[in-house]
Amino acid sequence: MIFQENYTLANGNKIPKVALGTWQTSDEDAARVVKYALDIGYLHIDTAIAYGNEAGVGKGMKASGKARESYFVTSKLPAEIKTYEEAVQHINDSLARLDTPYLDLMLIHWPKPWGGDQNKTYFEENLAVWKAFEEAYKDGRLKAIGVSNFSIADLQNLMDNAEIKPMVNQIRVHIGHVPQELMDFCKANDILVEAYSPNATGRLSAKAEIGAMAEKYGVSVSQLANRFDLQLGTLPLPKSVHEEYIKQNTRLDFVISDEDMQALLAIKE
Ligand SMILES: NC(=O)c1ccc[n+]([C@@H]2O[C@H](COP(=O)([O-])OP(=O)(O)OC[C@H]3O[C@@H](n4cnc5c(N)ncnc54)[C@H](OP(=O)(O)O)[C@@H]3O)[C@@H](O)[C@H]2O)c1
Repeated sequence: MIFQENYTLANGNKIPKVALGTWQTSDEDAARVVKYALDIGYLHIDTAIAYGNEAGVGKGMKASGKARESYFVTSKLPAEIKTYEEAVQHINDSLARLDTPYLDLMLIHWPKPWGGDQNKTYFEENLAVWKAFEEAYKDGRLKAIGVSNFSIADLQNLMDNAEIKPMVNQIRVHIGHVPQELMDFCKANDILVEAYSPNATGRLSAKAEIGAMAEKYGVSVSQLANRFDLQLGTLPLPKSVHEEYIKQNTRLDFVISDEDMQALLAIKE
């Protein structure tokens, strides 16, 4: 099953091709859905400090009874954390809340602080935070390190000035929103693209042409959307709090034809 297959990161580590997203999932729901997802064979969970549900995710991990090394967990450093000292503290706090000795991947959530000066680049600040990531990577607390919502210029800054290149860029990729130039840049530099909001946070199902195509393949809009992201070579992170949806999102072993991929790529937001 494709949802249990792996991509390989630049450092050689395997990363399962589909993750359960947990944005807007309460702490309580997180414990339930993470346990359920691991029970039915998910191998990858995506959370973030800003989601406020790491403790719940950690409870779900424990409750599953699975060996820690049998699944992959990602968390993210909040956008407003832009100093080395704060980053060190937040990495430690994240590990403590998740009750795990290591994270498989940690990302800088955004290149600029939420609500910060959007005309400023924050290149120096991201390098300071990245230094804390590199240290935690070297001592094994973070098995891989990456970024999220980074532009080409933001990535180039790390690539030119840091010791270790980012291994992942988690960005919004879904039918109607395919940032091809950024994706091509990542591919050329061996940075895996993770596709967040594969269902456009639930908005995709409103489009009749997407519904019609899903019907043609005998799948749901969400399955079509996740498969679309996989066929672009990205790693989708579908989020749901409903067990039937979480289960359905594992069934992605169908193939969207080249012609239909082109039709989906032509859809605009
Ligand atoms: N790095 C970033 O800045 C960033 C930003 C956004 C998202 N993310 C990550 O990406 C994940 C996914 O993005 P998202 O939260 O925007 O969600 P999404 O997966 O694009 O959409 C979630 C919505 O789709 C529904 N859904 C999921 N599977 C379904 C199915 N099989 N049938 C019908 N409905 C289905 C969910 O329903 P219910 O929840 O009601 O069950 C929810 O309403 C996040 O959870 C987070 O982990 C990262």
